Amino acid sequence: MPTNITSKLSNQKTSIFSVMSSMAKAENAINLSQGFPDFGIDTQLINYLLDGMREGFNQYAPMAGLPELREQIAIKTQLLHGRAYAIDNEITVVPGATLGIFAVISTVVHQGDEVILFDPAYDSYQPSIEMNGGIPVHIPLTFPNFSIDWNRVQAAISKKTKLIIINSPHNPSGATLSPADLLALRQIVADTDIMILSDEVYEHIIFDGKHHHSLAGDKWLSERTFITASFGKTYHTTGWKMGYVLAPKKMTQALRNVYQFMAFSAHTPTQYAFAKMLQDESSYRDLGAFYQKKRDLFQSLMEASRFDILPSHGSYFQLLGFSRISDESDIDFAERLTREFKVASIPISAFYQDHTDHRVLRFCFAKKDETLTKAAAILCKI
Ligand SMILES: Cc1ncc(COP(=O)(O)O)c(C=O)c1O
Repeated sequence: MPTNITSKLSNQKTSIFSVMSSMAKAENAINLSQGFPDFGIDTQLINYLLDGMREGFNQYAPMAGLPELREQIAIKTQLLHGRAYAIDNEITVVPGATLGIFAVISTVVHQGDEVILFDPAYDSYQPSIEMNGGIPVHIPLTFPNFSIDWNRVQAAISKKTKLIIINSPHNPSGATLSPADLLALRQIVADTDIMILSDEVYEHIIFDGKHHHSLAGDKWLSERTFITASFGKTYHTTGWKMGYVLAPKKMTQALRNVYQFMAFSAHTPTQYAFAKMLQDESSYRDLGAFYQKKRDLFQSLMEASRFDILPSHGSYFQLLGFSRISDESDIDFAERLTREFKVASIPISAFYQDHTDHRVLRFCFAKKDETLTKAAAILCKI
């Protein structure tokens, strides 16, 4: 047995999402921690998947993805954001957005390159940068609005800045970027070679009549942007691990150059199923209203509690402050909530690189109404 096994991420602990989900299971707690639905999926999608298998879509798909699926992604993006991504060389289907993010970072980040990211951040960004020899430059979002302080971004730009990672609607805060944000971003990257990774996995989950300002809809920014998207979030199928990356031709060529040696291609019958599903526009257009009802239900139930309800404009996450309840750290309080009260959440500090003492927990409301009602009844007694 070799004794010198040192991973490139030897300081990295097991992801908090796995930790909290296993604790929820062990404690038989209601799991509002990890971001996945506890309800069933559209049976039509299952039928399409079976059709795909029966009709012989069982061997390697083309590396870039089934043409049928890329075509539907192109149609949807054009319809919603007015940009026509070319099926042949600007759309790449990948097994999940996490892998898409890793592939993008592996493609463009070389040893010593700096990558700007905003805390709190989805947990895969930092290790993906590190594994590729990049230097993460963390900028905190303002609290409690979770907006970007563009002056800080400007100040953080250096000759080594290669990539800026943005995420809207945002996990964990549910904040969304506005046209003014995109304008500020534009001004900062103008006259530079800085690229953008825009993580838009919650693109269809946006509330209160707000519009998702995809970078696909900004002609100038889209010319230097990789967009990552996830069918797992849109079709309640996080376990199917399927997403895609949109980017201009040259950037896509570079991406595929790397991606071909990661997964080569994604699960073929699943691609067939999503291609069929996307033909029905309502399958993604109605998602915001669907989750808005759940957000409203959870928020209205929580009004009777001692938690502070932070705004959630998109995604399927609700932040709740507990400073009126306890002085404990968010990690201690989240663990106690799971053990004693049997409701699991994620402490917000898990999304920060540096220490933070916000007393805030993230709850996922992609759950059956009865699950949310049960959890809220417990939380209201604390
Ligand atoms: C912001 C963000 N990006 C990417 C992902 C990963 O998506 P996928 O499940 O398709 O890998 C998630 C999942 O939680 C997420 O919240």
